[in-house]
Amino acid sequence: MAMREQLSKRWRKGRPGELRRPDDGADLSLLDSALQDLPRNEMSVIPALQRAQEVYGYLPESVLAQIADELRVPWARVYGVVTFYAQFRVAPPGRHLIRVCQGTACHVGGGARIREYLRAYLGIKEGQTTPDSEFTLDTVRCVGGCAVGPCMVVDGNTYGRLTEFRVAAILERYRGACSHPTRDTEANHDAHDPQR
Ligand code: FES
Repeated sequence: MAMREQLSKRWRKGRPGELRRPDDGADLSLLDSALQDLPRNEMSVIPALQRAQEVYGYLPESVLAQIADELRVPWARVYGVVTFYAQFRVAPPGRHLIRVCQGTACHVGGGARIREYLRAYLGIKEGQTTPDSEFTLDTVRCVGGCAVGPCMVVDGNTYGRLTEFRVAAILERYRGACSHPTRDTEANHDAHDPQR
């Protein structure tokens, strides 16, 4: 389901002014330190959402409402930003987060081809999660491995010199693993040396 539909179903149930705070069980106290140094105005909406996504892994509706209240901006403004930018997620991510680099150096080295392969291999687009909740796909601008592009990052581990075959082999090692493969696997060596 599209993000706009996911949010709007509940957020737009009532008329303006009648929106009720969603109760999705998110621990809102975690927001206190994330927001504490941000000015209380509209300019802080994007950094607040980025920090909240770091904390929760996605943006539960109660967190969006709390950010709007804390920054003293309309809920609709926060809603608009979240639905406009692909970097924001309103559903929990999969067990493994894949970020494929689309920076200039990786693009020249075939980054777009790798992104297309990931889309086809996983059956999802950027910002989406596979139906089995195993993988979430995102893009990133540069991960510091320009010399060995195209690159992707899986659960914080960087892989370079990607080919379609190599992408499939790497992801199969993650499939079913609770976090990243164990320390002695090839995948872990890749993480420390993306040139492999
Ligand atoms: S552009 Fe992809 S790692 Fe720098």
